[in-house]
Amino acid sequence: MSKKMNFNAYISGTGFNIPERVVTNDELSNYMDTSHDWIVERTGIEERRYIDSEIGPSELSIPAVQMALKNANLQVQDIDFIIFATSTPDYYAPGSGCLLQNKMGFNNIGALDIRVQCSGFIYGLSIAEQYIKNGTYENILLVGSEVQSTAMDLTNRGRDVSVIFGDGAGAAIISKTTKDKGILSSHLHSEGKYAKELWLETPSSKKNPRVSSDMLKEGSQFLKMNGREVFKNAVKRFPEVIEECLNANDFNVNDIDLLIPHQANIRIIQMIQKKLNLETKKVYSNIQKYGNTTAASIPIALAEAYNDNLIKDNDLVVLAAFGSGFTWGSTIIKW
Ligand code: COA
Repeated sequence: MSKKMNFNAYISGTGFNIPERVVTNDELSNYMDTSHDWIVERTGIEERRYIDSEIGPSELSIPAVQMALKNANLQVQDIDFIIFATSTPDYYAPGSGCLLQNKMGFNNIGALDIRVQCSGFIYGLSIAEQYIKNGTYENILLVGSEVQSTAMDLTNRGRDVSVIFGDGAGAAIISKTTKDKGILSSHLHSEGKYAKELWLETPSSKKNPRVSSDMLKEGSQFLKMNGREVFKNAVKRFPEVIEECLNANDFNVNDIDLLIPHQANIRIIQMIQKKLNLETKKVYSNIQKYGNTTAASIPIALAEAYNDNLIKDNDLVVLAAFGSGFTWGSTIIKW
């Protein structure tokens, strides 16, 4: 009888790409009643990036994927499966993963879009983890890429949302190893009763036509958010799901070398840090530069942290997300 091999899934390469166009808080205050000081005080965001030509998340992700492949020392042909996390797909159909398969000349491999908003990268990692650990695939490309700027209402009506979000892309390659390292476990959650607290209603397949001039007049094509409800739930769920992944692996908070939370709001990040009693240097943040890039925020932060030598072999890295759905989750990695 053949002996069943045990495989682990580790992150062999990371990459990111952000559009060149910088949108400062002062620029936004030309379009709506807001100010640099208000935005910084409430969110920590100083600037974000917007696409400056008609490109979707599939195209935006290409340099991020190229960087991740290079860092993993792999070629396009080495990838066995694509997982594309986005809440802002290029089109209603087909998925952005298929578009990327064609644009980068991947083999005719599976391409799966997932739409779990800010938790997309964590959900994607958990899918990749299963395929690698059961021996199905050797190298999986996971992308988190978003073009949020085209869903922003840059008027007073949308000022609570539009100051927060930005565009960007991150990518990671998840590879097979027999070494004792990699993703230890993933923990996923959802609570759909809060669906309308952070949602984008139009286009909706319930409506015929799916988009009308009345809908556009109402602004239902823009992302809407009940900021206070999101905030309240986020500061509860983040520490909970971080503790969950630590407990599942017999670790405690002191074992964490680096926590990379989804970059939603600096005040949320500070509250997580305080609740868990973590040192500032153990909690990564780049929200000042990019705002909230939804499914791209964790892979961008991961790639930057890795490039800045903040992650070393054997480090315990925890990733955690919360967002629209509501969905939330965590991944714990021995690097
Ligand atoms: N500039 C200036 N004033 C603004 C503003 C802006 N961009 N957006 C809202 N305001 C005003 C409101 O109209 C309100 O005015 P009022 O008191 O006259 O009614 C006032 O600021 C306070 O609004 P409020 O919504 O209570 O502020 P807040 O302290 O909750 O901050 C958020 C708003 C959106 C920054 C905050 O709720 C938040 O960060 N929530 C979580 C968002 C998040 O993380 N989303 C992504 C999750 S993945």
